[in-house]
Amino acid sequence: MIVLGIETSCDETALGLVEDGRKILATQTASSLKLHQPYGGVVPEIASRAHVELLTYELETLLASAKVAASQVDQIAVTYGPGLAGSLAVGLAAAKALGIAWGKPVIGVNHLQAHLYAAFMTQGEIPFEGPAIGLVVSGGHTALVRMDGLKGFKLLGQTLDDAVGEAFDKVAKLLGLGFPGGPEIERVGAGGNPKAFRFTTPKIKGGSPYDFSFSGIKTAVMYKVKAKEGGGLSADFVADLAASFESSVVEEIVMKSLAACSQFRIRRLAAGGGVVANRRLRGRLTQVASDFKIDLALPEIPLSTDNGAMIAGLGFRLKARLLSELTTVADLSVEMS
Ligand code: KG4
Ligand code: ZN
Repeated sequence: MIVLGIETSCDETALGLVEDGRKILATQTASSLKLHQPYGGVVPEIASRAHVELLTYELETLLASAKVAASQVDQIAVTYGPGLAGSLAVGLAAAKALGIAWGKPVIGVNHLQAHLYAAFMTQGEIPFEGPAIGLVVSGGHTALVRMDGLKGFKLLGQTLDDAVGEAFDKVAKLLGLGFPGGPEIERVGAGGNPKAFRFTTPKIKGGSPYDFSFSGIKTAVMYKVKAKEGGGLSADFVADLAASFESSVVEEIVMKSLAACSQFRIRRLAAGGGVVANRRLRGRLTQVASDFKIDLALPEIPLSTDNGAMIAGLGFRLKARLLSELTTVADLSVEMS
């Protein structure tokens, strides 16, 4: 069965054609990133307009590159949340219109669950079904969940302030680097010493032991930068600061993921979201998984950031809804399908 996936929750207009939930026939991703760069962050109105302008061309290119006719598409899967309300609305309207025009069912997909599903798309040996700890680290979300295939997703903890990707973006801005900050911090930090600066993460009182907080590290970086003000930031200083920040954040995420696996006696860990493109994080996750005999499902780098294939992939496994019942939910929880 061929599923078309439509993802427009943020600045990427992303489409994917996937057969039987795993085999990627084609993907197409355009981003309005350049339009947002002058503002140092995604501007919702600009993102929605870009989706409107890009979607038709993207779809035609996708079908042509896969040599798939519209009539061969069996289902349409679309992100219905969480995300920017206007951007989600454009994707959902497109999905509904195609559903009506092609006479095909439309399936609403939870973006966060799809990020976790992406981890299993390229790992034939690790089945999606069965208990696993799921780590979602993206620009808008940071969460640890207990998951069991389609049986459900239970939130264990989440960020109390900035999402991990957001912290990367803000620290990059402080260091005078470009947007999005994650890849920039990774590039610049590759030449730095991760032990040059010591950043500690706060012990969170109350709440869940799996909650996160990153605003403290961000503020600590800000003070280090301020202390240098006037003298300018040397390339070595920026590289060391980027590497130290990246390494502290990665350790925090990896240790909490490991603690969840240990507490719930689950030897399977899946990670998803844009920050999973980070090589230091991938390296550390791979290392601890090997040390503690945990099966690790990691998406390939292009499937870590927002993409249409993960939406089509998970959509293959979900039931279609009546078009009238399918609405966008900007603050959709990871637990809702
Ligand atoms: O999942 P995603 O593409 O979009 C959301 O759903 O938010 O994640 C985007 C986030 C951005 O904050 C970006 O800085 C971060 O992922 N990111 C990275 C890397 N590549 C993207 N963070 C750290 N290292 C990277 N290599
Ligand atoms: Zn995402």
